[in-house]
Amino acid sequence: MPRTTAPTPAAIPMEASHEKMNIVIVGHVDHGKSTLVGRLLADTGSLPEGKLEAVRENCRLNAKPFEYAFLIDALSDEQSQGITIDAARVFFKSRKRHYILIDAPGHIEFLKNMVTGASRAESALLVIDAKDGIQENSRRHGYLLGLLGVRHVAVVVNKMDLVDFSQAVFDAIRAEFTEFLQETGVTPAAFIPVSGMTGDNVAGSGSRMPWHTGGTILEALDAFQKEPPLDDQPFRMPVQDVYKFTQFRDDRRIVAGTLLGGRLRPGQEVVFLPSGKKSQVNSLEVFNAPTPAVVSAGQTVGFTLREQIYVQRGEIASLTGEPPPKVSSRIRISLFWLGRRPMQLRKEYVLRLGTARVKARLEAVNRVMDASSLATQENKGRVERHDVAECVLSLGKALAFDLATENKSTSRFVIVDEYEICGGGIILEALPDAQKWVRDKVILRNYKWEPGLISMETRQERYSQRPALIIVTGAKEAEKKRIAKELESTLFTIGRLVYYLGIGSVLYGVDADIRSASGESGHAEQIRRLGEIAHILLDAGVILILTMVDMTAEDLEVLRTVVNPDLIETVLVGDHALPGVSYTLQVMGGTQVADSVREIKTVLQDRGILYR
Ligand code: GTP
Ligand code: MG
Repeated sequence: MPRTTAPTPAAIPMEASHEKMNIVIVGHVDHGKSTLVGRLLADTGSLPEGKLEAVRENCRLNAKPFEYAFLIDALSDEQSQGITIDAARVFFKSRKRHYILIDAPGHIEFLKNMVTGASRAESALLVIDAKDGIQENSRRHGYLLGLLGVRHVAVVVNKMDLVDFSQAVFDAIRAEFTEFLQETGVTPAAFIPVSGMTGDNVAGSGSRMPWHTGGTILEALDAFQKEPPLDDQPFRMPVQDVYKFTQFRDDRRIVAGTLLGGRLRPGQEVVFLPSGKKSQVNSLEVFNAPTPAVVSAGQTVGFTLREQIYVQRGEIASLTGEPPPKVSSRIRISLFWLGRRPMQLRKEYVLRLGTARVKARLEAVNRVMDASSLATQENKGRVERHDVAECVLSLGKALAFDLATENKSTSRFVIVDEYEICGGGIILEALPDAQKWVRDKVILRNYKWEPGLISMETRQERYSQRPALIIVTGAKEAEKKRIAKELESTLFTIGRLVYYLGIGSVLYGVDADIRSASGESGHAEQIRRLGEIAHILLDAGVILILTMVDMTAEDLEVLRTVVNPDLIETVLVGDHALPGVSYTLQVMGGTQVADSVREIKTVLQDRGILYR
């Protein structure tokens, strides 16, 4: 193999600024990514003293040709196989800033590593072999960069030495790839003809391609603009955890998480979504450091609130007066799939976004694109490995998020199938779902909610119980009411705060104005109001028992939207189960009312609703 050196090696003075940028280098297998990374390190003088010589010597001793790619010996495995497996990270600096270069593998088997690397990057170099031309993963990686929101991309046409530094070859690749990229939303900042072998146009401009006036890779990197700081975006903090002060009678909680956008100061009013609960920030708390006056994007923080509202992990905190995140249980997404098994309609997956985890089902596949060719297929009904698709997901419960165009980090999600990440994507649109009319009311109610001074924990301690909504349901003739009333008596006798609420009690009172309203909407509104009553009683710490004839999945969904779904227990009397409804417990009823009540009581103890 001929050994040539860079025509104008550019040793970089060491007083580079402290600005940092993450770049990922992607492209088809063997197109020369690692070689270019090695070159960049060598030609910017970023290698440790003697490293280059040591690697050359080692190659000589082993009688194998020297490769610049060997310099990235992060993985021993990688060297022996000659392909990059994991995404290796190397550091170097230019006059302008510090770079963290993520060398992603080009082999299709390692697409997941490429995605991981790219999702950490602000900008990218996409490498195409001049001789081999545009290949499947040149396109696929280009498409994924667009999907992952990597906006700054320079296309590097490498191995120009193999095509005699021909401008015609370069121009043809540029024309074809520019057209392709237009469909992916990526606008390349530059096209650069280079040779990793000779060093032309890597860190120093070469003499072999005088026709190229567009600069070197290093110049293209330095020309990338930093993304505007996330501090100036609306405040976003996915709730990571809620810690309770453990000291006696201290009801304060610390809500903790990492800011994905904006800034936060004490005194500001935060709103949590999907619940819509709000309160003012009392104090900021950071680990092992004095209390700051303000925290901004990227920082991890805890804060206490004026009111002791109950918020949960997975909610997103936003600020009153700023655009709120979207909330829905149906989303239109752009998705890539890496799972060995295709993603299928109706199968249950888990979606993770920020700190939230929700069940997700593929409701529709609008179109599937073979990312390598961008050929689209409509109505495919599933998403195969390495496909990119536009789909609709329906979620097990409402999720808060932003759209990809608003805030990348609160729009990106991954899909988990059997504990393994199998895909990921971004959210394009919040679709209306059946619960929207209910949820909008709930968000407003929570926003307007006036909490008292007594916390839920204090109530629980006093009553030796957790509040719960027990819905006793079954066919018309099943012994629901007797069981419900007996259960109320039993719990009351052992000193618990419990209440049986008959549907009639609500229908002719609270629902008097809509009782005769016919049709679907009248019924759903009745259920919503029932839920609102339940919500108040649960907030008071009560165990509330309701009966309903043949509660449907839709009824349950409305109730789950109005009251905290974790507090709902469903008991089926008899065997008339309805599709889509999951029951905590099934009892026989009939002549065995006492047994049924005992069974329910045992379950309430097991679930920690009744403290022993
Ligand atoms: P993966 O990590 O497996 O995707 O490959 P890669 O893109 O990192 O390719 P790598 O840098 O390992 O280079 C692949 C082969 O191409 C090596 O044998 C290199 O020596 C060769 N190569 C890289 N750049 C050039 C170049 O500019 N000219 C010539 N002639 N060969 C090159
Ligand atoms: Mg490589």
